[in-house]
Amino acid sequence: MRVVVDLLARLGCRVPVLTAPMAGGPTVPALVLAASEAGSAGFLAGGYKTPDALAAEIAAVHGQTGGYGVNLFAPSPVPVDPAAYAAYRELLLPLAERYGVELPSVPVEDDDHWQGKVDVLVGAAPPVVSFTFGLPDEGSAERLRAAGCLLVQTVTSPEEARLAADAGLDALAVQSAGAGGHSGTFTPERPPPRVPLPDLVRAVRTAVGLPVVAAGGIATGADVRAALEAGAEAVAVGTLLLLADEAGTNPAHRAGLAGGDRGPQLTTTAFSGRPAGGVMNAFLAAYDGKAPLGYPAVHHLTSPIRRAAAAAGNPEHVNLWAGTGHRHVRSQPVAETLRALV
Ligand SMILES: Cc1cc2nc3c(=O)[nH]c(=O)nc-3n(C[C@H](O)[C@H](O)[C@H](O)COP(=O)(O)O)c2cc1C
Repeated sequence: MRVVVDLLARLGCRVPVLTAPMAGGPTVPALVLAASEAGSAGFLAGGYKTPDALAAEIAAVHGQTGGYGVNLFAPSPVPVDPAAYAAYRELLLPLAERYGVELPSVPVEDDDHWQGKVDVLVGAAPPVVSFTFGLPDEGSAERLRAAGCLLVQTVTSPEEARLAADAGLDALAVQSAGAGGHSGTFTPERPPPRVPLPDLVRAVRTAVGLPVVAAGGIATGADVRAALEAGAEAVAVGTLLLLADEAGTNPAHRAGLAGGDRGPQLTTTAFSGRPAGGVMNAFLAAYDGKAPLGYPAVHHLTSPIRRAAAAAGNPEHVNLWAGTGHRHVRSQPVAETLRALV
């Protein structure tokens, strides 16, 4: 129980509703600072950024809030099959031509500047560091712990929770399939089945004793209550903040969520070669089910198209990440969204 209290205290949090990390634009320092002012706390999103860009974001919040976290994509490569990559690239070429962009002809397999970002975090020593996609390597975890960071692991099943506990992580972000954005699953080829968030929290709490932040599809105060009653210390919300005044969500993504109803949330690998939650658009209508597994190669393959579509403000060809609560998303200040949940 003692560690549990530490997590929220370390984040300087007065309410059990945190703002989740959202890489690719939505999470900006202003979002984290607004959450903090509202008595919550937020995670900066280190994914896709250079170490320098991450350092600049940390500098913008460090000392300005009671506490905050920083999230990283832990290297967990799923190498793409070269022939399947070439075939998917071929399918995407007409769309690339339409936007006048080049698609990488050979798969790009990188680690998202992992070591450089760990170095930045060891130097900056944020109160909390969280990881998704997989566990951090032992050496990096040790350095971050020595720097004084509390370590949180995103897990999507009791089995992953056990692995995180065995690796000595301090707390868990338990993420259900109802979450927007990439699943943190350790096994993208076998993502866990859809289980209601409270049931998943209960199963994880039965498996391990670590404190839990629950995420995925939280849209109402009743959802918050159900997750807490299932044993979570706090919840984290992502989708609900995508249209927040303080979020950095690109206009195409905003337009995609604020326009007409796009139907239920679905899980797709079409944009990145890794399962992720989003809503329907023309890209998914054309390509869902056609991408090979392969992260980050497929992410880099579709990225020029998504960037061009975002620049054109076109929601039909960007990844409209969203959780099952997407119909509850409102354009309003972060504080109002959080107040409605607490
Ligand atoms: C646009 C978007 C980007 C995301 N990026 C990240 C990320 O960089 N790291 C991460 O651990 N989770 C990421 N997630 C998942 C969230 O941290 C969180 O688990 C999820 O938003 C919770 O479900 P909800 O969207 O239904 O609230 C992202 C989610 C969204 C919607």
